[in-house]
Amino acid sequence: MAYDNWWQKGINGDQEMEDSHKEAWENVISLLNPNDVENKQILDFGCNQGGFLRVLYDQLPYQSAYGIDLAKKAIAVANERVGDYPITYRATGDALALEQSFDTVISTSVLYLIEDLAAHFQMIAQVLKEEGTYYASFADQSQNPSFDYMEAQINQYGATKMQNKTLTEVVNQLLAQDFSVELIKEYTDSIYDVTNYQEFYRSVDDYILSLDSSYLIKAKKRRKGK
Ligand SMILES: C[S@@+](CC[C@H](N)C(=O)[O-])C[C@H]1O[C@@H](n2cnc3c(N)ncnc32)[C@H](O)[C@@H]1O
Repeated sequence: MAYDNWWQKGINGDQEMEDSHKEAWENVISLLNPNDVENKQILDFGCNQGGFLRVLYDQLPYQSAYGIDLAKKAIAVANERVGDYPITYRATGDALALEQSFDTVISTSVLYLIEDLAAHFQMIAQVLKEEGTYYASFADQSQNPSFDYMEAQINQYGATKMQNKTLTEVVNQLLAQDFSVELIKEYTDSIYDVTNYQEFYRSVDDYILSLDSSYLIKAKKRRKGK
């Protein structure tokens, strides 16, 4: 079920998405425990053009990383840009195919596209080392009045469909895979930049509601027997 690009809007949708995500990446990086990254082996699940891993390395150098994504052309761009970074990019959604285990897995803006969360978390648990951590950004949009509007945009231009999972469903699926779970609030600043709210929301209030319900989920794989 691979495809060329994920965001199929305009002539260079994935690049435009990358540009619009850079601030969110910085925010995620500020919330990671550096001990989970520095000198560690990292997997970025749904890395698109791979920019997040390069920005991460510049701030918290890790030992090595893989970035995987179903978007073949985005992965080709990632490989063109990899330079000397200790990163391998692969066009796949199957983390097990890498035949490697990781200290930390990160996904930014990907979980809301995953239909089968049980299978996804099971796969992540299988590639994580004991007591490894999965950081995944997620906002529960199920109660957002702009849900239909947002879903229409994503499903029109995105190569994969938007799902409608609640935060409770996501957490329950992680608990079922024997993770311990913490929720780190993503946006705690007292200033909201609402310039581009209309891209996915019908009102400023809906946009703020979305930011206020955005979490970086920190799921730690429990040691066997704990
Ligand atoms: C909204 S984009 C986010 C990209 C990037 N993580 C970021 O923060 O800019 C979602 C990405 O997840 C990828 N994706 C969605 N489902 C996937 C799956 N099952 N396996 C691998 N990649 C997937 C898409 O191809 C797309 O590149």
